[in-house]
Amino acid sequence: MNKLTIDLAEFMQEFWQKKPTVLRGAYAPFIDPITPDELAGLATEEKAESRLVSLVNGKWKAEHGPFDDYSHLGEENWALLVQATDHWIKPVADLIKPFRGLPNWRIDDVMISYSVPGGGVGPHVDQYDVFIIQGHGSRRWRVGDNLGQTQFVKTPGLLHVDPFEPIIDEVLEAGDILYIPPGFPHDGYAVTEAMSYSIGYRAQNQQDLFSSFADYVLQEDAGQTRYTDANRTLTSEPGLVSQKDVNDLRDLMQSLMNDEQFFTAWLGTQLSSAKHELNIIENEWELISEELIPALEAEDELYRLGGLRCLYFDAQPDVCFVNGEKIAIPDGGRELAKLMCNQTELTLEHLSPYLDSISLTQWICDWCNKGYWYLASDAEE
Ligand code: SIN
Ligand code: CO
Repeated sequence: MNKLTIDLAEFMQEFWQKKPTVLRGAYAPFIDPITPDELAGLATEEKAESRLVSLVNGKWKAEHGPFDDYSHLGEENWALLVQATDHWIKPVADLIKPFRGLPNWRIDDVMISYSVPGGGVGPHVDQYDVFIIQGHGSRRWRVGDNLGQTQFVKTPGLLHVDPFEPIIDEVLEAGDILYIPPGFPHDGYAVTEAMSYSIGYRAQNQQDLFSSFADYVLQEDAGQTRYTDANRTLTSEPGLVSQKDVNDLRDLMQSLMNDEQFFTAWLGTQLSSAKHELNIIENEWELISEELIPALEAEDELYRLGGLRCLYFDAQPDVCFVNGEKIAIPDGGRELAKLMCNQTELTLEHLSPYLDSISLTQWICDWCNKGYWYLASDAEE
């Protein structure tokens, strides 16, 4: 299995959200978890979000998938990009494992790009942190300083920036990682046919948060406390909204956000919602406790569905949040719930402390029956 050779804690201190860097050999020796043919296979599916970006006679073109033919594209200057590949292919989801020191809610997805020589998406800026792991082949990357470059759309579907002065200009080989914080313009094109794996992160802005919070307030029919002013005295400036009134109205709004239970209940549903489709395959038959334990004893493991977001809060000890839903934890199940949120693979050893309890064993089966976890052996994973 691919492993990181760098100290991620040190990386966090020096580079995370601060400056771009090339981490040479950080994932070496790197074995591609998917072949270009398998990626092309995924791009034939409606449910996978794929894009083809090409540069023909100096003109950029972007098309949205699904795709089943690339013959018109020739051997140079195009790239196939597929989002959220970790939702569909477990060995790709496994690429995230060494980065799990970053919390689940910050991870977005693994985007894979396959590019032929000259292929790339052009100079652009992303709003998110990204680790671009170089798979087979090599790619030249240029990264500029974060100078607030203006973004523009000259080609439909492609947000570009003008060419920039690079502060990084290097050719990445298999197992190298390029880390780019939000806002740093970058441009990578394949030197040879190449695969790149981008582990992307999420970071909401205030607009995202406020609009989702407002939706939740309406959905829950909450926030009914009304403004009152029993102590009001008369004013000689009826046109003025006094600073006290401003503060009182803001306090009224903030009191809802300061309600820890309500705020975390909203945040849990917000942060655990999937942005890309999940590959939920519900069991054809119900998994029951009588089958779970023997399967685990026979060395099957439980695997969490790729891309599934599982979160919990100290302020909400009785629930956890999975795929946008609040899930009640059965009595005595807090540690089990934590395990199911913190781990993506569970063995008999992890689960045995809970399997004496019928309700907890049933709870594990419930997760499986929703398609959130599945039983498989190491060999067939
Ligand atoms: C790519 O792999 O071509 C795009 C990755 C990125 O620039 O974020
Ligand atoms: Co980018």
